[in-house]
Amino acid sequence: MCGIVAFIGSRDASPLLLDGLRKLEYRGYDSAGLATVTIRENEKEGFVTCKRAKGKLVNLVELIEQSGAPGHLGIGHTRWATHGKPEEHNAHPHRDASGDIAVVQNGIIENHNYLRQDLEKQGVSFLSETDTEVIPHLISKELQRLLDLGKLPSGSVLLEAVIEVMKLLEGAYAIAVIWSKTPDSLVVVKKQTPLVIGLGEGEFFCASDMPALTGFTRTILPMEDDEMALLTPLGIELYDVNGQRKNRSPLFLSGVDQVIDKQNFRHFMLKEIHEQPDTAELWVSRYLSNDLETGAFLGGPYDAPIFESIEEIQILACGTSRHAGMVGAYLLEQFAGIRTSVFFASEFRYAPPPLSPNTLTIGVTQSGETADTLAALAMEHQRRTSLNNIEFASLQLGITNCPESSLALQVSNILDIGAGIEVGVAATKTFLGQLLAFYGLAINIAARRKSRSRTEIRNLCRELKAIPSQIKDLIKNHNQMAESLAHRFADTEDVVFLGRGINYPIALEGALKLKEISYIHAEGYPAGEMKHGPIALLDQRVPVISIATPGVVFEKVLSNAQEAKARDATLIGIGPKIPETEIFDFLLPIPKVSEWASPLLTVIPMQLLSYYIAAQRGLDVDQPRNLAKSVTVE
Ligand code: AGP
Repeated sequence: MCGIVAFIGSRDASPLLLDGLRKLEYRGYDSAGLATVTIRENEKEGFVTCKRAKGKLVNLVELIEQSGAPGHLGIGHTRWATHGKPEEHNAHPHRDASGDIAVVQNGIIENHNYLRQDLEKQGVSFLSETDTEVIPHLISKELQRLLDLGKLPSGSVLLEAVIEVMKLLEGAYAIAVIWSKTPDSLVVVKKQTPLVIGLGEGEFFCASDMPALTGFTRTILPMEDDEMALLTPLGIELYDVNGQRKNRSPLFLSGVDQVIDKQNFRHFMLKEIHEQPDTAELWVSRYLSNDLETGAFLGGPYDAPIFESIEEIQILACGTSRHAGMVGAYLLEQFAGIRTSVFFASEFRYAPPPLSPNTLTIGVTQSGETADTLAALAMEHQRRTSLNNIEFASLQLGITNCPESSLALQVSNILDIGAGIEVGVAATKTFLGQLLAFYGLAINIAARRKSRSRTEIRNLCRELKAIPSQIKDLIKNHNQMAESLAHRFADTEDVVFLGRGINYPIALEGALKLKEISYIHAEGYPAGEMKHGPIALLDQRVPVISIATPGVVFEKVLSNAQEAKARDATLIGIGPKIPETEIFDFLLPIPKVSEWASPLLTVIPMQLLSYYIAAQRGLDVDQPRNLAKSVTVE
């Protein structure tokens, strides 16, 4: 989704801003822009240069190469259209009528219509359809008021004006503001949308996402909600919304930089599919390293005694993360014996179920920034606090791939899946990491509650230990198979994915992956539901991909597949190569494992097949149209 980068120091700002924006490209955007401030020789005041371009960043780069954007202070933005089409006039930065104030914004200004009408009544003309454009006009008016009172242009006056304007803005947003009259001041604001300050030597950065700071600095100050900062080449001043000074020490990021490198892969998505054995290996070494024979099943960092008293679990997530949550719920209920519900975070926040006692709330978000998930968790925290369910208000667990994200600031127990940066918009390795986190939780709870015997738990752990090498072999064997099968989808317009039980969410995930990157219409269905409606869609033009792994519903899945075959659909199976799976026209074989462990393998051929179908169509696999890597607006 939209990305912000800002810089102040003694170096040329525009190359640094472009570099930062390049590192945010993977998040998805449809236009880009930057604005700088510099002073002309013999003049006291500066001037703003603003450049914007529709489409990919390369268009902006060309523009700046042609006409330049001088200055040691600047703000940059990649925009993912919400209000107004992806056109140059809607790209950020936006400016006031004089062009002296430039603003970039991530998020949504919910009352922008009202503010716009009010400004129009005062004679302001708007040049864009965006919600953001109200901000520079409002700041301009406020600055004029302050100057009329006799105040002189300074960073503090700019800050004062922004504080006043914040009082008028409703919504969740992060903004960065520059003013031609203060060429040594940058004001940034965070309200429920991520923003992090980076501290260099005599220079400062600000970005919506950590990857934008890679290579610039490892010393960071993540901003908190309702916080603002005045950045000058001399330092950072942190304030609350009332203008009261705040103090907080920066953090130093240890570990290796998250390098965004495609290596020799054609797309990041393919690279990330290939990284899954490492994701699984890391989890096994972190959480299953115990000697299984002792019965000390770890499965995750759940030491708090309160975990003993959990009676129910609710999982809040969106998209792929919700599918991981659905597999998790199956494991938690069927393996660990604890009642578990999964919710679309976007629905939960407005229609939560009645409160249940002793409930653990889990938020699953690979980015840790998904607005709906964060808001649903916050709402649940607030709801339990106000009803004096304090202990369980705070008992929230976040499962994420980004332990420095907003989720980690909000939720006290964090399980880092450690998959490394995922650049492809379509989640692959982070999905696997989320699944493994749920296996750990289910094992842990089953062991605590003794809902499974030691032998059953030990057997599952043994299977999980073998998963990294099984995934590795699967990827090796399926690469070519999926690639050649993908050719058969050249003219396909609809695909149905079927699964049951623990593999039903994998059918949903298969359909989501395919539609996201290939734009083919796909439905994931629990196989038994087909005959209640969707079977009407089937004919020889609609391939049916059916997950069939031995277990409680194996025979049922096979007979549901037969029903599809009788309607002339091409049947593709994902399951072990055994006589029963000979009914499929094509089989993408997986090793024979228990039904419990099967989703960790059935998802791999799904990912590869979707990838090759999209790649063969020549589509932008890593940045599919209309999608963003982290969805920071509601
Ligand atoms: C996954 O392929 C999608 N890009 C999308 O559904 C994603 O899973 C969803 O937006 C949730 O993202 P999160 O895990 O960062 O919260």
